[in-house]
Amino acid sequence: MSTLLIQGGLLVDTEWTRHADILVDGPKIVRIASKISEDSIPPGTEIVQADGLCVLPGLIDAHTHYHLVSRGTVTADSFEEGSKLAAFGGVTTIVDFADDDKKGNLKACTKSRISDMKKGMAIDFSLHQGVYAYRPGVEKELKELKASGISTIKIFTTYKNVGYLIDNPDELKTLFSKCKDLDMMVCVHCEDDSLIAKISDEWKGTYLAKDHAELRPSEVEARGIETVAKIALELDMGLYIVHLSSKKGLEVIRKYRDAGLDVLVETTPHYLFLNKSKLEGDKGPLFVMTPPLRDEEDNLALQEALIHGEIQVVASDHCTFTYDQKLESSDCRSIFPGIPGTEELLVLLNTFAFNHGAFGLSQLVNLLSTGPAKSFGLYPQKGTLRIGSDADIILFDPDESWTITKDNIHSAANYTAYEGFEVTGKVKTTYLRGRLIMSENVYLGLPGDGLFVKQNKVHQQKKYWS
Ligand code: URP
Ligand code: ZN
Ligand code: ZN
Repeated sequence: MSTLLIQGGLLVDTEWTRHADILVDGPKIVRIASKISEDSIPPGTEIVQADGLCVLPGLIDAHTHYHLVSRGTVTADSFEEGSKLAAFGGVTTIVDFADDDKKGNLKACTKSRISDMKKGMAIDFSLHQGVYAYRPGVEKELKELKASGISTIKIFTTYKNVGYLIDNPDELKTLFSKCKDLDMMVCVHCEDDSLIAKISDEWKGTYLAKDHAELRPSEVEARGIETVAKIALELDMGLYIVHLSSKKGLEVIRKYRDAGLDVLVETTPHYLFLNKSKLEGDKGPLFVMTPPLRDEEDNLALQEALIHGEIQVVASDHCTFTYDQKLESSDCRSIFPGIPGTEELLVLLNTFAFNHGAFGLSQLVNLLSTGPAKSFGLYPQKGTLRIGSDADIILFDPDESWTITKDNIHSAANYTAYEGFEVTGKVKTTYLRGRLIMSENVYLGLPGDGLFVKQNKVHQQKKYWS
């Protein structure tokens, strides 16, 4: 087993920041101290100087779709390519999804996805299991799923057309209550399908990229949240809302929090920093994702919510189609939905924190590492710099300025939604369980080295909020 000593950096965890040395033995952090002398470490230990750099726990992108088979194609970033771009962005774990094949064996769905991911992933991964239909045997399926290391399911209040929607309220409530009994987390993509259908039926306009935002407006998200929040409140159970995009949605969350609901909220950089003006013109399709981009007012409301601790996780919803694929259609009903984002997560958030002076690196670590780890039962194996935790470590220069362009970003999509953004902060080095996987712009990750991380007890939301 190799040992590694990182000296002289500023260690940043969610609850503390200190100048200290950190010793890694094999895959684990074994010592943290103000000064670890070289004569107290095993012979042959590699010593890395981190003066002037911040040492952060590896990030967790809690919402990705690498190698997603969808709409007659597969997303551009494979497990190999996704792992590579993640390493450049300081991400050492992703939480991806397993589809529900509706054959009545969720554990088998998870198992098959893990086996596919295991071959290509060079960083660690966990999963949410999709549940796209209620069936009487679902309780047994969930039990087996949990025993196999998955404590979170993902459901949709939309996408009836692709068979994801559970629209019977009684079935939804029964499913929620089974999850509560099993102490499993329900994650929801919130857009109300019947309202989308009504708007679409009455629509007299065009179907350009810009119309995507009008066909799925904020009210649709607000109503979707209302549906699931009501059920979770009635059952007195926690809930996780994925990719919150709107001020109206946020207002519903506030209303239910006031009523006592424990709800964890995730948003993405695109809902924080991009608005629907991007959907105008012939490049508009590049910015189509679901839910759609909103108004600047929504960006600002989400930014405020982030600063004030109302949002627990920022994730990417990385779901990529190539530049050419995105521009194949100009009809928003058939443009492939989704954009890249894992690699840009940290620098965009750091730039926002830096420019606003609104929060520091500890909060950043909370949003991008500790928060996701706690939400999905990966903590303290992941999401923290602690003795005994996995040595997923990044060396980060928070002050380096650079400009994002497609040429310095590694997605196979061959474009970035943040082209020309001047950002602050650069990941210099990424370690996965003590092994170097990216250093000074060179990728060293090995497909197959990524491990599936089991989810332990999912976070007790009440503690999160107190
Ligand atoms: O447009 C998006 N976000 N595609 C990924 C699937 C989803 O709904 O999250
Ligand atoms: Zn979604
Ligand atoms: Zn998604």
